[in-house]
Amino acid sequence: MTAQKPLSLVILISGRGSNMVSIVEAIQHDNLPAQVSAVISNRPQAPGLDYAAAQYIPTTTIDHQAYDDRLSFDHALAEEVNKYQPDLVILAGFMRILTPEFVQQFSGKLINIHPSLLPKFTGLNTHQRAIDAGEAEHGASIHYVTEELDGGPVVLQARVTVLPDDTSDTLAKRVLAEEHKLYPEAIRQIATGQITPPK
Ligand code: GAR
Repeated sequence: MTAQKPLSLVILISGRGSNMVSIVEAIQHDNLPAQVSAVISNRPQAPGLDYAAAQYIPTTTIDHQAYDDRLSFDHALAEEVNKYQPDLVILAGFMRILTPEFVQQFSGKLINIHPSLLPKFTGLNTHQRAIDAGEAEHGASIHYVTEELDGGPVVLQARVTVLPDDTSDTLAKRVLAEEHKLYPEAIRQIATGQITPPK
């Protein structure tokens, strides 16, 4: 049997980075066949950067506030990502809308986690909106990124039951626990070819 080459990942974050942590931990403790080549944040104060640095993962900040427009920010971001020639670019709580230019450049390699059962509740405040809509079930989705915001093909989902006394916070907490299993699983299935990029 030939050993599988680990997938090289560049992970983009904006904040806490708990999904990034779950991927690093799955590599370290659960034989996820991947390696994190870099963690890039658009916010210098993102707490996830400290965790990544403590794991000796190269970290960079491309501060969106230092750029005049989305296109120039995305150019700088793409340049940084390309330094690592990753197999996958993982959006893990990366809260910037990417330009079509960026998305096309990484087409088939760019995946995102979104805290809803897409196509329901694209955008923000998904947990409160699911409660307000009286949903019986809510969850998280992994999808390939296309030019349409939260609109690319969904490859894996996790579901949770919405409880009668749920608040946005309690629901978010249960969904997040599922996200932490879902992202490593999606990367594993991409590594084994069970999940393939859209044509
Ligand atoms: C996660 O719940 C993720 O699904 C969501 O942000 C959170 C980031 O948490 N992403 C989006 O809303 C993308 N539109 P984390 O920084 O702890 O991984």
